[in-house]
Amino acid sequence: MTFEIPTYEQVRSDEEVKALQERFEDASAVELLRWAHAEFGDEVALASSFGLEDVVLVDLIDEADVPIRIFTLDTGRLHQETYDVISQIRERYDLQIETYFPEREKVEEMLREKGPNSFYESREERLECCFIRKVAPLNRALSSCQAWITGLRRGQNVTRQGTPKVEIDRSHGNILKLNPIADWKQDDVTARIEARDIPYNELHDRSYPSIGCAPCTRAVEPGEHRRAGRWWWEEPESRECGLHTEKKTGESS
Ligand code: ADX
Ligand code: SF4
Repeated sequence: MTFEIPTYEQVRSDEEVKALQERFEDASAVELLRWAHAEFGDEVALASSFGLEDVVLVDLIDEADVPIRIFTLDTGRLHQETYDVISQIRERYDLQIETYFPEREKVEEMLREKGPNSFYESREERLECCFIRKVAPLNRALSSCQAWITGLRRGQNVTRQGTPKVEIDRSHGNILKLNPIADWKQDDVTARIEARDIPYNELHDRSYPSIGCAPCTRAVEPGEHRRAGRWWWEEPESRECGLHTEKKTGESS
């Protein structure tokens, strides 16, 4: 399955991105968020799955006191606990959250041809489901953005060790991708949640350190890696859904 994603001029040149990486590597997350809003206004948004990192980012946006847009990708297969935390965050911060759904026709076609559990059949089927339910809605959300903000951290997975705070997102039209808490440790995240009494997904207290869609997330055993419950039937190196997979030159994703 191939998909065409348009490529635009880079929002910032490679040299500018390098300078921004140096400027923000030791700066606080709040500083980066304020800069992002000053530069891009309504054309920057936080992508939030309402996991631990993302509720912390909502709180950091509140501290930064800048009205950065927040959107979520509702795949249609989320846990009830995820919807509960979305409601709590809306109320606590008095926010409107933009919600992007998958295209109805594509979901109906996939369900008709492959049934409701095709993601367990092969990696290809799993990526097709992730594409329809997450990646395509993300592309739609980002079509109005010059930059997006994520809760990626270097410590989350082998695939994320090199995450910079500022990068060019070559998979999404060469816009900027900002990862303000890339250098935070797990303990920094949980300490902020406790100190500020930030609402969080109850599943985190039931051995779900990382939460995605309900059928593709399980609790982890003591000692297991924190992403071990995501697409647990696949090899660790392949456990990304396509939201954060770098496009190689000339490749469509
Ligand atoms: S995933 O690629 O494995 O699903 P993960 O759950 O670790 O990603 O989240 C990493 C970042 O991707 C989050 O901090 C958030 O910025 C973004 N993200 C993941 N899932 C969603 C979602 N459903 N809606 C919006 N953003 C999301
Ligand atoms: Fe589909 Fe699972 Fe990907 Fe969710 S995580 S979009 S249910 S394959």
